[in-house]
Amino acid sequence: MSPYSYPRFPIIGTPLTSNAIRVMMLGCGELGKEVIIELQRLGIEVIAVDRYPNAPGHQVAHRSHVIDMTDGKAIRALVLQEKPHLIVPEIEAIATQTLMELEAEGIVEVIPKARATFLTMNREGIRRLAAEELGLPTSPFKFASSLEELQQAIDQGIGYPCFVKPVMSSSGKGQSKLEGPQDVVKAWEYAASAGRVDAGKVIVEGLIDFDYEITQLTVRTLDAKGEPFTAFCEPIGHVQKNGDYVESWQPMQMTELARKKSQEIAKKVTDNLGGRGIFGVELFVKGDEVWFSEVSPRPHDTGLVTLASQTQSEFELHAKAILGFPVDVSLKTPAASSVIYGGMDVKGIGFTGLEKALALPGVAVRLFGKPEAFLKRRMGVTLASANDTDRAREIAKLASEAIKTVSP
Ligand SMILES: Nc1ncnc2c1ncn2[C@@H]1O[C@H](COP(=O)(O)OP(=O)(O)OP(=O)(O)O)[C@@H](O)[C@H]1O
Ligand SMILES: [Mg+2]
Repeated sequence: MSPYSYPRFPIIGTPLTSNAIRVMMLGCGELGKEVIIELQRLGIEVIAVDRYPNAPGHQVAHRSHVIDMTDGKAIRALVLQEKPHLIVPEIEAIATQTLMELEAEGIVEVIPKARATFLTMNREGIRRLAAEELGLPTSPFKFASSLEELQQAIDQGIGYPCFVKPVMSSSGKGQSKLEGPQDVVKAWEYAASAGRVDAGKVIVEGLIDFDYEITQLTVRTLDAKGEPFTAFCEPIGHVQKNGDYVESWQPMQMTELARKKSQEIAKKVTDNLGGRGIFGVELFVKGDEVWFSEVSPRPHDTGLVTLASQTQSEFELHAKAILGFPVDVSLKTPAASSVIYGGMDVKGIGFTGLEKALALPGVAVRLFGKPEAFLKRRMGVTLASANDTDRAREIAKLASEAIKTVSP
């Protein structure tokens, strides 16, 4: 056993002393920030790491570091220096090979498991696992490493309309919808320019003509005997624009059968990925039919709504689950979230109109404190609870429209 290994049912020590439980967050955006706040509430010592200074999570942690998280050597050095019990990745763009080595060497435990972070950082890893190994229904797909291969994949079966995505990307970056042959070259070039790390490979997926899409938040933690168990949150509905979420709400009304299938798919995927923590399983739904799209082994951006809708938000659930404690996934009230964008490229942005937003019934606001805004960067979110999700969506949207950004 390494001196750093995380014990089952740990004694929660005192932060900044020798018996502290130390958690290192890799990635400290808005989702990481909320997880850190929940860990702080449980008396955990939190070390926040991101690629730029004063990231949202840096602002609420015990210590912070700025490193290139795709640099395995930098991650290893920092882990040996800080000696965390747990590493909690918040983003996909991490040297996951190094996480696997550190985990195998018994130096640190990775949430949920290093293999899960490795498989999900690359669309090929998780898609082959879901479709080929687990036999889950997905969109038809092929991988292509050149423009010629892409054209061939489309002509020999995928057809139009289809989606082209870099295998390593998130938040819709480098992603295009293709309506016909005229769109192929543009899509290939856009994917090649916007992918991460290992550019040059794309997935091409046939379009699923879904009625709606959901995030099935799924929590893996331990029961009182220390045995793993899985709990499901109410489904979250959401709207995506250009591959990025603009509003979400919970609960999403579904047929009983679609609901059951969603949970079965989520269980199969998360059982395979293993470990403890929350997962956001993205699913497409048409009537009673459900397709697996992808999974985040961490809190999901559309799950920001749970700050208003659930007894315990996805961030509180994650914090408790990674520590191996019992959780409560119950819904408190229907609610919705609506995104606040930067609206401009500027450092040190300002916000006005909070007095109008906060005067609306059942509204809460989160401003993330990101040091630099971009036109389409998510800078905050409004939350609204109401008697039903339609009303909650209306109010959340009114609130986000009431908040204006201003240059400094
Ligand atoms: N095969 C498909 N059929 C229909 N719609 C799709 C398909 N693939 C993607 N989409 C649409 O595009 C959105 C983004 O796709 P996807 O989740 O694969 O991208 P992403 O870059 O991983 O985004 P994020 O990181 O925000 O989840 C989906 O939520 C869905 O609305
Ligand atoms: Mg997605």
